Amino acid sequence: MYKIKCLNPISSLGMNLFTGQYEVTDDYNAADAVLVRSASMHELELPENLEAVARAGAGVNNIPLEKCAEKGIVVFNTPGANANGVKEAVLAGMLLASRDIVGGVNWVKSVKDDPDVAKLVEKGKKQFAGTEIKGKKIGVIGLGAIGVLVANACNRLGLEVYGYDPFISVEAAWNLSRDIKHINNVDDIYSVCDFITVHVPLMDATKKMINADAFSKMKDGVVILNFARDLLVDEDALGDAIAAGKVKKYVTDFPNPKTANMDGVIAIPHLGASTEESEDNCAVMAVQELRDYMENGNITHSVNYPDCSMGVCTGAGRIAVNHRNIPNMIAQLTAACAAANVNITDMSSKSKGEWAYTMLDLASPASETVVNDIRKIAGIVKVRVIK
Ligand SMILES: NC(=O)c1ccc[n+]([C@@H]2O[C@H](COP(=O)([O-])OP(=O)(O)OC[C@H]3O[C@@H](n4cnc5c(N)ncnc54)[C@H](O)[C@@H]3O)[C@@H](O)[C@H]2O)c1
Repeated sequence: MYKIKCLNPISSLGMNLFTGQYEVTDDYNAADAVLVRSASMHELELPENLEAVARAGAGVNNIPLEKCAEKGIVVFNTPGANANGVKEAVLAGMLLASRDIVGGVNWVKSVKDDPDVAKLVEKGKKQFAGTEIKGKKIGVIGLGAIGVLVANACNRLGLEVYGYDPFISVEAAWNLSRDIKHINNVDDIYSVCDFITVHVPLMDATKKMINADAFSKMKDGVVILNFARDLLVDEDALGDAIAAGKVKKYVTDFPNPKTANMDGVIAIPHLGASTEESEDNCAVMAVQELRDYMENGNITHSVNYPDCSMGVCTGAGRIAVNHRNIPNMIAQLTAACAAANVNITDMSSKSKGEWAYTMLDLASPASETVVNDIRKIAGIVKVRVIK
């Protein structure tokens, strides 16, 4: 029986996927696996038996990844599970930037008690008139889980879509509509697009990527949509660009003291993934990842160990080994099996940075001798008998 501790409420759609092999516990220290959303684990000791942590969401800065890796605790996240929620928020952002719906709604509230409200509306509406998005040009920077959905949706809404991602994955490229114009130089997006939407991770290389130089290359009256992270944009340069009329609207899902107080900014309180469906999708994906790891030893979407999968174990035995990514490890693992006269029928070994993971399928159930011999090898951090 595996004990699961939830550090935050997790959607029942995910929790219901746990079978009778699992028990939800209140006792963090007894947990074999932890499910978490935003609760910080940095201050918590890692329980002795803990095998895995699954974050129902994408960001993992609330989890001590390296400390977990050192103890052989695999940390999972759920990339793309909230992508549709963010895509829909981006579409809403484009519409809010094109029509002054927010201003108009607020104005109606201010005249709502006037008996002539219907007449006032007809007279006053012109101050909130706007433009349509059909036929406009949009540049999508970053074509991952969210960017691809945004690009395809905009294409279907009749926009001309320009996509830029020098590191696009094969899967994303397969999913991208062939109508999207493939851009190799991001300046080509800056110079032609009416809307620019950013969907890249925040890293040293992308911090302030939308800066004064980028603004100077953009069309006057451009709309910038930022549903990724605030620091991707140089906000001092943004303030200047808004004041100069270069940027008509900046729509952000990440307001901060600077942007929340700027004219020309539509600030949304991080609602991109705040949908019932996103929470359900994240919970379902997190539980599926945990179950596949606990029951089969397979790793999918780990952030501190490599992905490694050998499907369901149909043979007599399976051992999963978390270890440091150092030379001679495979030779020592196979030697330990050979010394115990255990035949390896299949194996897979993957590495990611300093860490590696090896799965061994055996012709006989994993014996205590072979498991103990493997545990003694320098650089091994965890050995699990799956079967
Ligand atoms: N608003 C929200 O609630 C919310 C929710 C989820 C994610 N996000 C943000 O959205 C970002 C994107 O999410 P995702 O799920 O699509 O991520 P993803 O990892 O699937 O895609 C990111 C893409 O950016 C590309 N990229 C990296 N550096 C680039 C660069 N310099 N120029 C162009 N492309 C580059 C990568 O190749 C990748 O294809 C996340 O990093 C996160 O910050 C926001």
